Amino acid sequence: MHTIREADNGAGVTGAVVLAAGKGTRMKTEQPKVVHELLRLPMLWYVHRALGAVVDIDRQWTVVGYGRERVRQACIGYGGHFVHQKRQLGTGHAVAAAWPDVRRAGCEWCLVVNGDAPLIRAEALSGLVQSCRENSASLGFLSIELDEPDGYGRVIRRTDGTVRAVVEDKDLSPAQRESGLNEVNAGVYCLHVPSMEPYLNQLSQNNAQGEYYITELVDLGVNNGELVVASNAGRDSSLLGVNSPAELVACESLLQKRINSELLNSGVVLRNSDQVRISPLAGIQPGAEITGPSEIYGASTVASQAWISSHTWLQDAHIGPKARVLEFSHLEQARVEAGCQVGPYARLRPGTELKAGAKVGNFVELKKAVLDQGAKANHLSYIGDAHVGAEANIGAGTITCNYDGKAKHQTVIGPKAFIGSNTALVAPVRIGKESLVGAGSTISKDVPDNTLAVTRAAQRHVPRRKLRGGDEEN
Ligand code: UD1
Ligand code: CA
Repeated sequence: MHTIREADNGAGVTGAVVLAAGKGTRMKTEQPKVVHELLRLPMLWYVHRALGAVVDIDRQWTVVGYGRERVRQACIGYGGHFVHQKRQLGTGHAVAAAWPDVRRAGCEWCLVVNGDAPLIRAEALSGLVQSCRENSASLGFLSIELDEPDGYGRVIRRTDGTVRAVVEDKDLSPAQRESGLNEVNAGVYCLHVPSMEPYLNQLSQNNAQGEYYITELVDLGVNNGELVVASNAGRDSSLLGVNSPAELVACESLLQKRINSELLNSGVVLRNSDQVRISPLAGIQPGAEITGPSEIYGASTVASQAWISSHTWLQDAHIGPKARVLEFSHLEQARVEAGCQVGPYARLRPGTELKAGAKVGNFVELKKAVLDQGAKANHLSYIGDAHVGAEANIGAGTITCNYDGKAKHQTVIGPKAFIGSNTALVAPVRIGKESLVGAGSTISKDVPDNTLAVTRAAQRHVPRRKLRGGDEEN
């Protein structure tokens, strides 16, 4: 029976259990569903982030099972514990797997959240816990209204509006299916631990899927006089679940819209914003301008007055103030300081650093390369494992030959050096400051400061009649 409790004001330990052990058959891949990515972060990351922002959660467990090593690996930054559900016998069974830990931690309240709800917000979670505490409910859960409720458990209410049951899609009677029930269970529950504990052992597999459903707790609670409440969040899209690739990309679009409208409101100019995809980890300063289609992932940062043109892809890249990244550029783990210009069509690979005012033009690839202030590589070059001094100029077609088949070697170019076009710099090699390398040279020895180095063969002129014994070819 429903035990009478004093309405408490946050006393007692609150735990949270994330259900993430299922395969996600409807995704039709071998990959566990919860590691599928939205804006290049695993679905589960979003659920953990929302839970992490709920202040009154003391302990967290994530139930893993199918592909559990991959799921664990995907939980970057997650500070909670894992529980192994050895066989995936249903959501009720998953909660039961975590229950001994929940008990041992002395939890009075326990939130249970489906791991496939990446849009969930911390406010919705704390609101549910709060309302269950205030009403001394034994079980509370969130519901939403959907025009197309297919696949979801339907909330059945009595004529007085109180909750009667949750019936899974596959268990609906033809009459229930016809009746246009559109309030569905969102898969977010708050359990009063001592009240609901007896019912966990009473779950049956007596349903269309032969599984232990967490939703059967609603029937059991109601039948035993417990207070069971559903908070109807209306048409709140942040409670949508992901079961199929179509739902994954639909949720990703909603997430993208949410992030972009926050950025627009904060003073970032996003042109063609439907086609700008920005990670929730990225930091974009007010006054930055980004034109879509563009993708900015990971912990990238874009400073004020920086300019990111269309078809740009950034991953963990840092763009300084007033820097311009022009069309079709691809930057990964690269740092671009104030006032630099990059692209169009530049590729900055991990370890690239452009100091203030440096310039990298079209079809230039850099890797582990530092360009000091004002250095330039404007056309068609590969600069890898290199340090280029301030205001040095790298001519078109310059290649650092950094790899000898076994190891990588460094190229060091002094300040104000001038590397002529179509030069091969065979590393390890140093070019002195203010030195010149003649176009078409292959440099394998160090060049001192203030020196011209040329290795190309001298140009010869031979009159045509002297070729092939004087017979000119046609
Ligand atoms: C579930 C609810 C349904 C609700 C919907 C909301 C049940 C029985 N049904 O249905 O009422 O409308 O969510 O999105 O709960 N999982 C485990 N172990 C298992 C089975 C599942 O950890 O043995 C995990 C899954 O990884 C997933 C979550 O539980 O993250 C929900 O499972 P899923 O199969 O997606 O449930 P739905 O059919 O969507
Ligand atoms: Ca689901």
